[in-house]
Amino acid sequence: MIIAVTNLKGGVGKSTIARNLAAYFIKKKVKTCIVDTDLEQRTTCDWQERRDEAEIRIPVFPMTTVQALPKDIETHSSDGYKIIIIDGVPQMDQVATRTMLIADILLIPITPSIDDLKSFERFLTRFEEVKIHRDDIPTFLVLNKFGGRSNEDKEVRTALKLFGEYGITPLKSALGDRVAHRRASKYGLTAYEWEDERARGEVAELCREIEAKFKSLTNRRQNAKSKKKINR
Ligand SMILES: Nc1ncnc2c1ncn2[C@@H]1O[C@H](COP(=O)(O)OP(=O)(O)O)[C@@H](O)[C@H]1O
Ligand SMILES: [Mg+2]
Repeated sequence: MIIAVTNLKGGVGKSTIARNLAAYFIKKKVKTCIVDTDLEQRTTCDWQERRDEAEIRIPVFPMTTVQALPKDIETHSSDGYKIIIIDGVPQMDQVATRTMLIADILLIPITPSIDDLKSFERFLTRFEEVKIHRDDIPTFLVLNKFGGRSNEDKEVRTALKLFGEYGITPLKSALGDRVAHRRASKYGLTAYEWEDERARGEVAELCREIEAKFKSLTNRRQNAKSKKKINR
């Protein structure tokens, strides 16, 4: 299962979400790794180097080259990784397009700001182009740094539902703006491994929702396969 976390904007929480998801699945004993596609910043590779003291090991591999990304994924998959999380780049370039083309599930973090909504509209243009080649990408919006109480936040929640017409569904769970994420990152950890109960709880809820999505996707695929067999 390839989960890609992508968005054309930086600072929306792609790496944070990718790392928390990896921590969640590895704690559940699912063999998981992260592929850091941001070869310029390498923030998740750097983050991993700060994880010496961490209880669990989270393998992070830098992408070799854009062209080699599908091959990289194949190698990790044959090395036994059941979940491969792609930590995306902050530009709408070749990496982002390739990532969208190979993902089983696409996660798009977004923060409740007008700037993010505007850049998301630009993302949609590229997304529509990619969908010419592949129109079945299960795509979910993840609200990050989300308070949920202000009128503006409520408006954003409502606005996101409009993207349903593009086949993009907002997830129910969201991550609040919590200092635990930044603190944990300083020590090469995730909020899921950190002491703040609320941040950890939100992460767990988000991960469970994503897990449920891909379980239903796997079931659908298996059903489709067995139908094909019967029809043969
Ligand atoms: N929910 C959150 N609450 C507080 N800080 C956050 C949250 N999500 C991310 N951050 C912080 O925001 C910054 C950018 O997040 P990051 O995951 O690196 O974004 P991206 O990968 O999209 O550029 C980091 O310092 C990170 O620790
Ligand atoms: Mg990042």
